[in-house]
Amino acid sequence: MCNSVIIIFKIKLAKERFEAMGNLKKIQSINSGIKGEIVIPGDKSVSHRSVMFAGLCDSEVKITNFLHAADCMSTVNCMRALGVNVTEIDEQTLVVKGNGFHGLKEPETIIDAGNSGTTLRLMMGILSGQNFLTTFTGDASLSRRPMQRVINPLSKMGAKIVGRKENKLLPITVIPQKESLKGITYEMPMASAQVKSAILLAGMNAEGETTVIEPYTSRDHTERMLAGFGVNLKKSGTSITISKVDKMTAPQEIHVPGDISSAAFWLVAASIIEHSDVILKDVGINETRTGIIDVLKAMGADIELINIRNEVEPIADIRVRYAKLHGTTLSAEIMPRLIDEIPIIAVAAMVAEGKTIITGAGELRVKETDRLQVITDEFNKVCPCIEATEDGMIITGNNKINFKNAVCDSYDDHRIAMALAILGASGVGLEIKNSECVNISYPEFYEILARFK
Ligand code: S3P
Repeated sequence: MCNSVIIIFKIKLAKERFEAMGNLKKIQSINSGIKGEIVIPGDKSVSHRSVMFAGLCDSEVKITNFLHAADCMSTVNCMRALGVNVTEIDEQTLVVKGNGFHGLKEPETIIDAGNSGTTLRLMMGILSGQNFLTTFTGDASLSRRPMQRVINPLSKMGAKIVGRKENKLLPITVIPQKESLKGITYEMPMASAQVKSAILLAGMNAEGETTVIEPYTSRDHTERMLAGFGVNLKKSGTSITISKVDKMTAPQEIHVPGDISSAAFWLVAASIIEHSDVILKDVGINETRTGIIDVLKAMGADIELINIRNEVEPIADIRVRYAKLHGTTLSAEIMPRLIDEIPIIAVAAMVAEGKTIITGAGELRVKETDRLQVITDEFNKVCPCIEATEDGMIITGNNKINFKNAVCDSYDDHRIAMALAILGASGVGLEIKNSECVNISYPEFYEILARFK
């Protein structure tokens, strides 16, 4: 009797400990390599945009290889709240049927963008020219992220957007527009595809021309995809101009390429785990996204692009084999081409021989977490080799010699959780607190990792 009470008590304690740790995940070291083929899930940025743009048309659009992850479902739910019909044929196939370019409807309640900066910022651009009211909310992380970078230029165009902390933070309300927006020329203080896209999307409802100029070119999915929907854009260097649009013409089908930002975890895993030889299938290789390949090659990685073909975006299969890596230098101009890959590049740099110096990465401080801080605090528990600077990091790699087992927190940042998992798999294993956030962009990530021993 007494023993069973003790056992129940112990189980209760263990359960409470697990819950308090926030879904703790144990990662085992992988010793025989990353091998075979991995099919890479759909690109997050393209998935968001395909639902948004299809929802502004009046014919049915079939979207295949859609990324069925929490962030993209936030976009689906927002578009549904605005009167767009989205049918899920299966997890990766959607059929979107909108009500035309002027057919969005006032939502009946507050719209939830969840964890997704892309949903919130692009939707603000789409909604700022509408004659109805929309109020956005989001999760704790999104509620901390800066929104004035979008609200400022949209306000210059005549949009009326209010938010907490003097129009900087969620909750945010886009007030009904009585007059047409006005086109502006806007020199962006940072390279950001979300800011650029929000302005261009607002420009489709503005009188005259709207021009955005970036310090460096960020991912260009909005420009490419809008062109595919019959929208006229002019590009010159890092400047893009759009004019008022009356109608968008939808393609019948959009096939979403595999996400290079998800492939990045396997590119690094295979590069740093001995005996690896893997093929990553159907990866989007748009050159505004392939900074990770350039950097890994500069570090000595063995990466080969095969079966290159062109759909809405260029796609390839990527073969990666284990190689000895060495340190490198990354600065501001490459950042937009690999902005989401810095956590996993930090893992590669920890294993590589010598120093990796990263500068011009200040944008990392306003992602799902302050990634420069979280990488330094958490990755250093495995091996204290990272020093954070104001806008980057200095990482002194040592080929896993001083790696030790640790318990590390993702702080609910999906890319931190996956980078930690690869760090653990490459060395002595580790435990990840708040591990389930991988659902934001790559729900099957742990399942695939568990294939390798
Ligand atoms: C994205 C742009 C990037 C990136 C994000 C997705 C997009 O953000 O970090 O994951 O789809 O436009 P920024 O525009 O803030 O750099």
